[in-house]
Amino acid sequence: MSILGINYEECNNCNLCLTTCILFRRDQEQDKIVFNDPTEFCNLCGQCIARCPQDAILYEGMGEAYSYEDVGKPEKIASYDPIYKFLRANRSIRRYRLRKVSKDTLQKVFDAMLNAPTAENARTENFTILSGKEQIKKLNDAVIEELMKQPQARDKYGTLLKLLGKVFNSPIFFDAPHVIFVDSPDDSEMELMNIGIIITYGRLAAQALGLGTCWNGWTQMAMMNNPEIKKIANIKGKKVGIFILGYPAVKFYRSPPRAPKKIDGLE
Ligand SMILES: Cc1cc2nc3c(=O)[nH]c(=O)nc-3n(C[C@H](O)[C@H](O)[C@H](O)COP(=O)(O)O)c2cc1C
Repeated sequence: MSILGINYEECNNCNLCLTTCILFRRDQEQDKIVFNDPTEFCNLCGQCIARCPQDAILYEGMGEAYSYEDVGKPEKIASYDPIYKFLRANRSIRRYRLRKVSKDTLQKVFDAMLNAPTAENARTENFTILSGKEQIKKLNDAVIEELMKQPQARDKYGTLLKLLGKVFNSPIFFDAPHVIFVDSPDDSEMELMNIGIIITYGRLAAQALGLGTCWNGWTQMAMMNNPEIKKIANIKGKKVGIFILGYPAVKFYRSPPRAPKKIDGLE
């Protein structure tokens, strides 16, 4: 995976790469722009590729760039009002249809997640999906057992989980047909942010595909306290985020209220 340099047959010397990334410079002797990374600083963010009007940046092993109408004017693709309404329509879904989601549709959710930003473009995350009822039930039982061992979690969720257990076979996962894990070997605080952003991309993409999702902090808590539980889903990372996914069996008639907050410095 690397930026290889410039295709001089295409380069028209517009200098835009110079204003995009400090690792491009004009070589006076050769009188041409060169890509030079003496610091090994390049994190393959690809802004040089995105900004070159001539598509003249050479790269390998990074996937393919994607050009489409209004890529440079995203506000034309989706303006504020529909985006705001789309965000306010996002709910945690806790009732699902039995129907599984097709591989093609799941791939679209993963495609969105794979394009989420990560700190330093490190992209250390691994992705796993559980779709088997029995495996999900096994994980459910292990998570409940672990949560009930922890006094704080037991006090907070014990009664709730008992009530949920009367309705669902796997109450931790609300009988959703799929459970998705995003994990990373990186143990830093920043990594939890990466995972949070990735999952948010996935959840919003899922919503655009008519799917419902819900974060699953319970499983995260159980896995953090008892790493053995990770083995059930073959999760090896130190940090993990989880969400459930499927076709929703509920419809909403309004977006719920959220009490306003004072924004310091806005007045
Ligand atoms: C990091 C995180 C972890 C969560 N974990 C759970 C969970 O374990 N179980 C659950 O039912 N909901 C979970 N939720 C969903 C929240 O309860 C929900 O987002 C919140 O009540 C607001 O409701 P809404 O998502 O429908 O707007 C979690 C949400 C977040 C952001």
